Amino acid sequence: MRAESVSRISRNAATGPAAGGGLLRHLRLQEGARAMTEATETTGSAAAAPLTPCVLVIFGASGDLAARMLLPALYNLAAERLFPDAFAVIGLATKEIDLAAFRDGLGRAVRERLGDAFSPEAWAALARRLYFVAGDLRAPETYQRLQARLGEVAAAHAIGGSALFYLSTPPSLFGEVVRRLGEAGLTREDGATWRRVVIEKPFGHDLESARALNREIAAVLTEGQTYRIDHYLGKETVQNILIFRFANGIFEPVWNRRYVDHVQITVAEQLGVEHRGRYYEEAGALRDMVPNHLLQLLSLIAMEPPSSFDPEAVRNEKGKVLAGIQPMSPEEVLGRTVRGQYGAGAMPDGAAAAAYRSEPYVGADSAVETFAAAKLLIDNWRWADVPFYLRTGKRLPVRTTQIVIQFKRVPFSPFRQTPVDRLRPNRLILRLQPDEGISLRFSAKVPGAAVRIGTVNMDFCYSDYFGSQPSTGYETLLYDAINGDATLFQRADSVEQGWNVVTPILDVWRALPPRAFPNYAAGTWGPDEADQLLARDDRAWNNEA
Ligand code: BG6
Repeated sequence: MRAESVSRISRNAATGPAAGGGLLRHLRLQEGARAMTEATETTGSAAAAPLTPCVLVIFGASGDLAARMLLPALYNLAAERLFPDAFAVIGLATKEIDLAAFRDGLGRAVRERLGDAFSPEAWAALARRLYFVAGDLRAPETYQRLQARLGEVAAAHAIGGSALFYLSTPPSLFGEVVRRLGEAGLTREDGATWRRVVIEKPFGHDLESARALNREIAAVLTEGQTYRIDHYLGKETVQNILIFRFANGIFEPVWNRRYVDHVQITVAEQLGVEHRGRYYEEAGALRDMVPNHLLQLLSLIAMEPPSSFDPEAVRNEKGKVLAGIQPMSPEEVLGRTVRGQYGAGAMPDGAAAAAYRSEPYVGADSAVETFAAAKLLIDNWRWADVPFYLRTGKRLPVRTTQIVIQFKRVPFSPFRQTPVDRLRPNRLILRLQPDEGISLRFSAKVPGAAVRIGTVNMDFCYSDYFGSQPSTGYETLLYDAINGDATLFQRADSVEQGWNVVTPILDVWRALPPRAFPNYAAGTWGPDEADQLLARDDRAWNNEA
């Protein structure tokens, strides 16, 4: 059954339009890869292009991100046979570690992440391409050692001179590492040889610092060499927003202020801050999630159709939406935003959850928010007066990332003065994780003699159609960065636009410390004020996962 649908997809892919840029090319990759891994009997499918030969250098290789995300993603790419022979990885970290121990440690982490999908043979093929360099990232000698190692590794694997530097370091080091890479001549491109730098989040901590970091980077790298990552854009279902909107004719005509009542974007997490208290005390929910992930989702939902899926065409349209978000005055911040911090509580499975202030590395009187909600308005013809309600929080009752497009009520109800007078409006829900799918809520007659109207859902579930793929979301991003496709990365201007929206909120929150923290119990949907934010507009959050 699955093989049939895969071969159908592959055929469509093979006969699709001529190669465009970014996303379109990536779509073919996914389909081709799926055909290779799930339905090897399918022939003539669009095969995925292998990665361009290069050395990937991971700064911060002993960190959490490398073990939990980057190496598992590399493993998945290797398992899909997307690596050419000419490919290797150098991990860089402060503490010296013997190469065998480095490889073993990462092997264990990947096995843990992938569970049954782990194959020791596939790992061995990747592990023999892993190398290690130790050094202080602030010391010029480190970069000289890296330079030498890069040369040796490139020669051993016949790679040539291209390299991707992935900065998975503390954010305070981003500027310095880029500067030192430049000073050591490591960012110099030569003929067909390319050098690119991937920069993790958070990119700055407010508008001013983001601008300063952009300037620091621009002194060393061209914008074309700079890949600012937002891992949300690597998620299949996030990319599908564009396909859903622009490859289907039926939604676009109603995708505007005439038919849409409001939009809700929720990123709810069950986890608390875990061992990340030190980082989180500096960041808080707003900085951690909104200028990047939530605003990226908003821009995909609200953007105009791009003229092509070329990286610049897509990023230009997203940028216009971000630039159109009304910046808030201090009074508006008070009326249109909500912050919260979790206290002790119980999660739905009954497990007790400690208060944020009792988490490791968190101050006993911390004023940092673990929940943020805001009502944003976009100044353009498509969206004028349509509120976009955003919320994100830790220790909420369920893990869900979803976007709700709520449509306007019918203009005239023939059911007035009957028990079915109050019809529930149509809702389109894009469920991005964990149970990926799309559902449309509409009214239907409940069978029987009396006229009763029920609300029903038309549901599409990704895994029913496409199976589930082992994926961290970083596969796509690594693949694209290595192959030079920047569509899914943030440009300098869009990062600044994100901070432009959030900085006025941060300023007011800093000036007026919260009075009632903690103001929601772990395992609940955040502070009451978040519900009131919508209730004041006669609306309510969708709390169904
Ligand atoms: C990260 C944040 O960017 O995204 C984390 O720093 C958050 O605090 C995470 O937990 C959520 O990502 P995902 O992919 O689990 O939704």
